[in-house]
Amino acid sequence: MKYNYYWRKSGLKKPYGDNFLSLVEEYKPKNVLEIGVFCGVTSRNICELLKTNFGSDFRYYGLDLFGSTKTSSVDEIEPKFLENQKFSNPLKTIYYNFIKKENLNSKISVQNFLKKFSQNIELLEGDTRVTLEKVPLSEIDFVFLDGGHSYDTVLSDLQKLYDNMKNNSKIVCDDFTGITKIESVEKAIKDFANNNKIKLEEKFKRFALLNVEK
Ligand SMILES: C[S@@+](CC[C@H](N)C(=O)[O-])C[C@H]1O[C@@H](n2cnc3c(N)ncnc32)[C@H](O)[C@@H]1O
Repeated sequence: MKYNYYWRKSGLKKPYGDNFLSLVEEYKPKNVLEIGVFCGVTSRNICELLKTNFGSDFRYYGLDLFGSTKTSSVDEIEPKFLENQKFSNPLKTIYYNFIKKENLNSKISVQNFLKKFSQNIELLEGDTRVTLEKVPLSEIDFVFLDGGHSYDTVLSDLQKLYDNMKNNSKIVCDDFTGITKIESVEKAIKDFANNNKIKLEEKFKRFALLNVEK
């Protein structure tokens, strides 16, 4: 399946959307968690693929601040887009900011965008230090970790995931290497993998893949 941008805004520019979907295709998870939903474009692509693979028998959980306050803002990096919702395509700026007056990173906007999957999804608003507790992590097969990018947040999210997810489930982390690499993210992932003796694989000169082994 090709990654579709739906005339919104995505964190995964070409070719990384397709690269990411090929990982979902390869591991064929049934229950997926995305940490950092942003405008819901990757969420929608994941749900479309899960529907193709499993019909209505899948779950998708999406966590995001959706504009609410972070527990800790130390060293946190946010997409510039969240400051004023300015698109590189001026037509989109006019359409979303002045005609629709829609904040694409709001829970209501993403909920609406994913409404055909309303029976299969759950969107949770708030900091992952709180919301991750509400996800049945032992049932999740595949996580896309792309929320808070500070060292402490990445490490805290990874530890919670690893402690609760089942054997052989997968965690794909964004911004580990290549042109979008974020030093704090890379360091947190490497430290986490070393401390827990987990195999770490680099994918598509961008992502890190961790296999949960217990
Ligand atoms: C890079 S964007 C995610 C991009 C998205 N995965 C995609 O493919 O389009 C990061 C998102 O993480 C959210 N975020 C940042 N810190 C967070 C935190 N501590 N808890 C939950 N969400 C957070 C931001 O609101 C932002 O929407």
